[in-house]
Amino acid sequence: MEPALVPGCTGVLVAGGRASRMGGAPKGLLRVGGEPIAARSIALFRRLFGAALVIANDPAPYAELGVPIVGDLLRDRGAPGGLHAALSAAETPWVFAAGCDMPFLDARAIAFLAGKRAGVDAVLVRFGGRLEPLHAFWSRACLPALERLLAGGEPSLRDLAAAVRARIVEEDEWRGVDPEGRALENANTPGDARRLGLEPAAGPPAPGYAPRQSREDIAMDLTGYLKDNEARHVSELFEFLKIPSISSSSQHAPEVARAAAFLRDELSRLGIDAQLFPTEGHPVVYGEWMGAGVGKPTILVYGHYDVQPVDPLNLWKSPPFEPEIRDGALYARGAVDDKGQVWLHLKAFEAWRQAGGPPVNVKMIFEGEEEIGSANLGPFLEKERARLAADAVVVSDSPMFAKGVPSICYGLRGLAYMQVDVEGPAVDLHSGSFGGAVLNPANALARIIAGLQDPSGKVLVPGFYDRVRRLTPRERASTRRLPFDRKAWLASAGNPPAPWGEAAFHVLERIWARPTLEVNGIWGGFQGEGAKTIIPSKAGAKISMRLVPDQTPAEIERKFTAWVKKLAPREVKVTVRGLHGGSAFLSEVDDPAFRATERALERAFGRKPVLTREGGSIPFTATIQEALRCPVILMGFGLPDENSHAPNERLDLENYRKGILSAVYLYEELSTLSPRASAPPRAPRAPRRGSRRR
Ligand code: BES
Ligand code: MN
Ligand code: MN
Repeated sequence: MEPALVPGCTGVLVAGGRASRMGGAPKGLLRVGGEPIAARSIALFRRLFGAALVIANDPAPYAELGVPIVGDLLRDRGAPGGLHAALSAAETPWVFAAGCDMPFLDARAIAFLAGKRAGVDAVLVRFGGRLEPLHAFWSRACLPALERLLAGGEPSLRDLAAAVRARIVEEDEWRGVDPEGRALENANTPGDARRLGLEPAAGPPAPGYAPRQSREDIAMDLTGYLKDNEARHVSELFEFLKIPSISSSSQHAPEVARAAAFLRDELSRLGIDAQLFPTEGHPVVYGEWMGAGVGKPTILVYGHYDVQPVDPLNLWKSPPFEPEIRDGALYARGAVDDKGQVWLHLKAFEAWRQAGGPPVNVKMIFEGEEEIGSANLGPFLEKERARLAADAVVVSDSPMFAKGVPSICYGLRGLAYMQVDVEGPAVDLHSGSFGGAVLNPANALARIIAGLQDPSGKVLVPGFYDRVRRLTPRERASTRRLPFDRKAWLASAGNPPAPWGEAAFHVLERIWARPTLEVNGIWGGFQGEGAKTIIPSKAGAKISMRLVPDQTPAEIERKFTAWVKKLAPREVKVTVRGLHGGSAFLSEVDDPAFRATERALERAFGRKPVLTREGGSIPFTATIQEALRCPVILMGFGLPDENSHAPNERLDLENYRKGILSAVYLYEELSTLSPRASAPPRAPRAPRRGSRRR
């Protein structure tokens, strides 16, 4: 039986101005069962309410429906602006507002909702934990509150529901009339449209409809889309962060594989042609979307989905793999390094994709072994370099200089990671019986380590500084101009009593452009409670050196090994091996791709970015630069104090949002670059493999 007509109400189809198109066509023209969604909804409104109207800034696609079409009175305010126009234009005290992309509106369900209006000014449904503002009844009594909210900027309709007398129909009750929540479904993305079985708009676009939007319109669409989908974009990242993809732990290998599959599936969902490439270690996730066409530049986005171990676990305020939001930051292992920064690129792509697609071709490569030295990435890049050809590489895996200071990083240090083992007697000896007549390996190791570095930090390995490139005068000047806050820096370093290092260099220069040597771990002999008198049989240390241009890991490993052998007393056996290494990275900042990145970051942060170098290492950067000879841009959104590699790692949520926006703009800004003359890419330098004894 047809439900009774709902009196005193107008059915309003909100087609809006932004986020109203998919693939260039208005969403209301997508078809369900051969019929445009908009035509179906308006026919339903006519039956139910008698009165219907459409809110659209571009009337052309809806002209044939034969109902009044009203533009937003307040432009660019999204759904609240649309509702404002509806309540102002409708001749009835109530409107029922629905999105133009809701294919399964249902008369019985709407009539049920209408029956809940007594004594309130709005009726909404909460389903799947989400309050749905565009399948709701709103009365004219909401206008003053709506206008107040609109005057204060861009509210959400959920704010409005909180500000008026609203009745919320909860999921349990709603299921009585709409068991699956189907009436509330909407098509926000091409993925939704596929899932809902929608067909594309029929025939040529309606006359007067201009498929090409202006740059401002597109930006408005994308930012509106991101705003509308913000909560989902965070909750999806939660799911990614829940996977404990610790690459260093063989026990976690299945989880690392699960994270790779999760990423691959998300790429596929976004319409990216994606696959997993197995390696001798963890798989590489690779995908490409070449929809912009051959005349457009191609960008290659890199990131890593593996994370560091979580110990010491007891120092975490919330468990590392149970993401939690506190004080505007998302806490989890991998939040900033690097899953959060990987995810922001996927969401930027998603925003472009729902608007038809980005203006550049996009390739994405995500590795699972960055935190353990990327040993298998070299062979992969070598084998697949033709596939990876690109005009620019974009990496988000580095910090910003400070909160509110967007940064482009043009240099990273390299790494040579060594292990030194010292062996003495075959068994631990009684130190009373043998002390003074047998050399203690731990003492010998201490002597060796002491010979590696002077008290100021200068490395004593002969030839260590041979190829060290000094900062240029321009770099030194630009580094000194940075807003370096010594106190804040000391705090981010955990407040040591004083900074340390080569006195002739600024703190930033020490970290960014000077090579260093660190003992990462040291062992040997008795470590238990109380005292035990022995000469241990063995001792050892893990020692790494951060490298700068133009040092090479191979040469430094060789020189280090020779020097340690020289320092080694002949009464013990000393073995030195290289664990892994990677070259330092330095990029040409005069490239137009850097100007494009500056524009993108300025659009997203409202402030010109600074140029930085960093002291950390990402082996991929130098290898891919060598292989593709194209600009490599490090556009990172971490903060220096977000505890990467430490307990309570976090990601500032504002930076996450601005990061997505920056990537959205970057794809656009890079689209104006001319694609490079397609010179065949060069072979990358031979990979560094682990565990070679010498
Ligand atoms: N994201 C970091 C690299 C980084 C850290 C860049 C700080 C800029 C500033 C990366 O995940 C990392 O931790 N790399 C390792 C590399 C190593 C295992 C080869 C590093 O730097 O120790
Ligand atoms: Mn990282
Ligand atoms: Mn890291």
